Amino acid sequence: MARFSLPVAVVVAAVLIACAAGAEDGSFASSDLFARENPIRQVVSDGLRELETSVLQALGNTRHALSFARFAHRYGKSYSTVEEIKMRFEIFRENVRMIKSHNRKGLSYTMGVNEFADMTWEEFRKHRLGAAQNCSATSKGNLKLGNDVIPEEQDWRESGIVSPVKDQGHCGSCWTFSTTGALEAAYAQAFGKGISLSEQQLVDCAGAFNNFGCNGGLPSQAFEYIKFNGGLDTEEAYPYTGKNGLCKFSSQNIGVRVIDSVNITLGAEDELKYAVGTVRPVSVAFEVVKGFRFYKEGVYTSTTCGNTPMDVNHAVLAVGYGIEDGIPYWLIKNSWGPDWGENGYFKMELGKNMCGVATCASFPVVA
Ligand SMILES: *[C@@H]1O[C@H](CO)[C@@H](O)[C@H](O)[C@H]1NC(C)=O
Ligand SMILES: *[C@@H]1O[C@H](CO)[C@@H](O)[C@H](O)[C@H]1NC(C)=O
Repeated sequence: MARFSLPVAVVVAAVLIACAAGAEDGSFASSDLFARENPIRQVVSDGLRELETSVLQALGNTRHALSFARFAHRYGKSYSTVEEIKMRFEIFRENVRMIKSHNRKGLSYTMGVNEFADMTWEEFRKHRLGAAQNCSATSKGNLKLGNDVIPEEQDWRESGIVSPVKDQGHCGSCWTFSTTGALEAAYAQAFGKGISLSEQQLVDCAGAFNNFGCNGGLPSQAFEYIKFNGGLDTEEAYPYTGKNGLCKFSSQNIGVRVIDSVNITLGAEDELKYAVGTVRPVSVAFEVVKGFRFYKEGVYTSTTCGNTPMDVNHAVLAVGYGIEDGIPYWLIKNSWGPDWGENGYFKMELGKNMCGVATCASFPVVA
């Protein structure tokens, strides 16, 4: 059984705003975390005053409390009791401390406060990440390496085939977003026009292929399902609800058909580079560990994540690679909304099968 369940962006009432947290050297104070506010985004709601009042009443009128009130407003948080405000505030402060301490180390990537900052890692892991899954089904790859020259750098966004970043919300459906992201790029490459495809159909209908809706699945198995099913509906025809539901697939609304799929040999980063470099974006998976959720920018690297088929717990889309400050990286599209990380993307160190980025990778052939 192979399935992921994924960290999910909290569904927010107000707009999601990337938090420009702190100076490069990490020496910011919590009160400065929101100094770079965008006033245009502040007009969304005047609920700030109300929220601020209740938070400050619960916590006292300190700059940390004010900073927390602004965080809560920014991400549309609502806390029902004074106890909950106090508990979330403590968690928030702990996370801010962790973020600042990380940033002071001057590593290849920085962290920032985002919508996950009032959750503990345990909560995040429990509610947003499933048990690590076995994706060994891809251990024998079927990529045919040709003679194409692999470019030094690649960024498929530049060729216009990568669709906008989506947000999986409160559902362990990362595998469906990884799948649609790969298919949308393949479609644009094949037909010269964009398309948005249905994640919900995969959530609701792909169970017979060892997928589990909001409880996880695998892109390679989603490609198999679509191939067998005869197609995947458009997003418009079969919109995302972020909940498990009954299958409502309609062959009238098919946006894309899958005629084949290619699995990358387990752990073969050179194969993955050949595919991403010369073919198109590739669905990949990796292990999300503590700290990753606060990634802000730079090349992510970790000494704690694993790279076996049993470790990976999040599926995403590799859309390129490059080198930053001497460190080679994979450029990866996430599904936690466009305000997470670098406009919804992150960079992952390349060359060490970091966090299993080449452990469970595949891409579709469309028609
Ligand atoms: C993972 O799956 C592969 C192939 O499906 C199987 O050979 C292997 O024993 C599994 N590993 C574990 C730890 O379950
Ligand atoms: C790719 O892997 C999936 C399972 O993850 C498997 O069902 C499929 O048959 C594989 N495809 C090929 C062409 O080997």
